[in-house]
Amino acid sequence: EPLDLEVLPIIDSTNQYLLSKLDTLPSGYACVAEYQQAGRGRRGRQWFSPFGSNLYFSLYWRLEQGPAAAMGLSLAVGIVVAKVLRQLSGQQIKVKWPNDLYLNDKKLAGILVEIAGKTGDVAHVVIGMGINLAMHNPDHQIVNQAWENLGHIDRNLLVATLLQQLREAMICFEQQGLSAFIEQWQSLDNFNNRAVKLLIGDKVIHGIAKGINQQGALLLEQDGQITPYIGGEISLRAD
Ligand code: ATP
Ligand code: BTN
Repeated sequence: EPLDLEVLPIIDSTNQYLLSKLDTLPSGYACVAEYQQAGRGRRGRQWFSPFGSNLYFSLYWRLEQGPAAAMGLSLAVGIVVAKVLRQLSGQQIKVKWPNDLYLNDKKLAGILVEIAGKTGDVAHVVIGMGINLAMHNPDHQIVNQAWENLGHIDRNLLVATLLQQLREAMICFEQQGLSAFIEQWQSLDNFNNRAVKLLIGDKVIHGIAKGINQQGALLLEQDGQITPYIGGEISLRAD
């Protein structure tokens, strides 16, 4: 029987580590690392992961319904993590579509959901998050946007609480999907009713953010018209 939580001093990436061991892991298995040599974000981007009291955490989940059921999972995870961090820090943590947590209008944490498994088959889901607790002297080649620290917090308590809340939320997500979480999004949304721009490749689209729809698409208002935007190629910024 493998342990439920593995604590690693150094690893390339906690997400990659779990993905490489999928066949041997029970659903709900998790790992944390003190340092990542190749921490990653979306689309091959890097996650700056220095040694020293940040959190690099990944959770494995076996999703019987298959990969399609994982739509919107990063949004649900964001809501759960925002609530845990609020509870433990008392600070006004916010969510940013589709996969970040914000504090004081700056990036506090990133969530990366990676899925292995063929359509129609079981999905092997790895949910990773990097949370800045005490990130000093960032490498500006990697962190090219405003970032924030949560400050001192008991990491053992944080990991234990995250594990428990995320496992509970995953069971709920398996049964009800994103719909069980959606009404909590609005009050946590960093950009609700604010002027934003969407960066899609070379294109920039300006509008007012209006939350998300049932599928987890971002709703953007332009000239009184609301358009849903979905897909991994979009970055959201304040305008
Ligand atoms: P965003 O829209 O916020 O850039 P994204 O979802 O488009 O995020 P991701 O790949 O998810 O892009 O995030 C990676 C980005 O996060 C990097 O390009 C970098 O700007 C930023 N970043 C990397 N490491 C950190 C860190 N430790 N803290 C805050 N931001 C970081
Ligand atoms: C983002 O780019 O916003 C998502 C960043 C996700 C970083 C975390 S750190 C733990 C886990 N392992 C990785 O390599 N990435 C995720």
